Amino acid sequence: MSNATQDPAPRLTLSGNRRLSIAPMLDWTDRHCRYFLRLISRHTLLYTEMITTGALLHGDRERLLRYDAAEHPLALQLGGSDPAELAECARMAAACGYDEINLNVGCPSDRVQNGRFGACLMAEPALVAECVAAMRAAVPLPVTVKHRIGIDAHDSYAELVAFVAQLEAAGCDAIIVHARKAWLQGLSPKENRDIPPLRYDIVFDLKRDFPNLPIVLNGGLLTLDAALESLTRLDGAMIGRAAYHNPWILAAADQRIFGDDQPLPTRQQVLEAFMQYAERQLTAGVPLNAMSRHLLGLFQGQPGARAWRRRISEQAHRAGAGIDVLRFAEAASNHQPNV
Ligand SMILES: Cc1cc2nc3c(=O)[nH]c(=O)nc-3n(C[C@H](O)[C@H](O)[C@H](O)COP(=O)(O)O)c2cc1C
Repeated sequence: MSNATQDPAPRLTLSGNRRLSIAPMLDWTDRHCRYFLRLISRHTLLYTEMITTGALLHGDRERLLRYDAAEHPLALQLGGSDPAELAECARMAAACGYDEINLNVGCPSDRVQNGRFGACLMAEPALVAECVAAMRAAVPLPVTVKHRIGIDAHDSYAELVAFVAQLEAAGCDAIIVHARKAWLQGLSPKENRDIPPLRYDIVFDLKRDFPNLPIVLNGGLLTLDAALESLTRLDGAMIGRAAYHNPWILAAADQRIFGDDQPLPTRQQVLEAFMQYAERQLTAGVPLNAMSRHLLGLFQGQPGARAWRRRISEQAHRAGAGIDVLRFAEAASNHQPNV
C-alpha cells in the first residue's frame, strides 16, 4: 500500500513502545486506575478514557486532562469528528505532556453516534483521514486511530483496506484494531464487545497489506502469553477487560514483553505504594472509593481475594473512609506475604 505522506515537521516518537498497552475504558481507566496499573508495569502504554472534544473545549479541561507524571507513557484518547476541534484538543494534550493522541473510531454507543463520532466514522474514511491530518499538523506527537474491522453493512475487507489506506496516507502513526465488527443498531455497547466474533485473521491480513504501518491487536486477549503470541505477527497487543479484572497479569510484562530485567514487584509493594498515593489524594479531597474500586482485582486467584473485595466494597464508600480500610482489607484477606 502507499507510503505515509511525509510530514516536514519533526515528529516525536513515543517514549517507550506499543508492544503492550491497556485499552481506553470509560469509567475504568481514570487517572487513579492508571496510577495503580503503572505501579505494576513500568513500560506498558496506558490510555485515558475517551474524552470528547466538546467536553475539552467547553468543560473543565484542567480536571479532564489531569494526570500524575508517573503515568507516562500515556496516550490521550479523543472522541470527535471535527478536524479543527480535534486539532485544538491535540494542542491542549501536547501542552499537558501526553505521549500520543488517539482517535476513537470504535465506540458504538448511541450517544456517540448522535455526536457523529466513534465507530460510525468507519463509514466516513475521508473525514477520519482529515481529522488525523489536522491533529498531526497541530502537534509533533504520534497520532493513532483505534477502530473496528467494520460496521453494519460496511464490513468487507475491501472497505477496511480503503479505510486504513486513507489513514496511512494521512500520516496515522499506528492503528489499533479491535478485531470484531460493531453493529450500530440492535446491539448495546457491551454486546458489541462480546457478540460479533473475533477475527484476528483479518488483522493479520491488514499487516500483510500494510507492512509499514504499526498495527496493534485488541479484543479478547486474556493473558501475556496471548499478547506475546500476537507480537509474533503484529506490532503491539492491547488488553482491556482482562487487565482491569485481573491486573496482576501485567506483573511480568516488563520482563516478558519489554525485556526489562528488573525484579518483579510483589502485590504488597504495589499496595504500599498505592496507599501512599491514595493518602495524598485523600488529602486533596478524592474519596477513597474513587480509587479503591480499581484495586478489587489485585488479589484475584489468591487466597483471601474474596475477603479483600468484600471489605473494600463494604467500607470504602462510607463517608470519611480512609486508608485504614485498605490496611484492614489487606489484613482480612490474610494472603501469603510476597506473592
Ligand atoms: C467499561 C468499558 C469502557 C470502554 N470504553 C472505551 C473507550 O472509552 N474508548 C474505546 O476506544 N474503547 C472503549 N472500550 C473498549 C475497549 O477499549 C476494548 O476495545 C474492548 O474492551 C475489547 O478489548 P478486550 O477484549 O481486551 O476488553 C471500553 C470497554 C469497556 C469494557
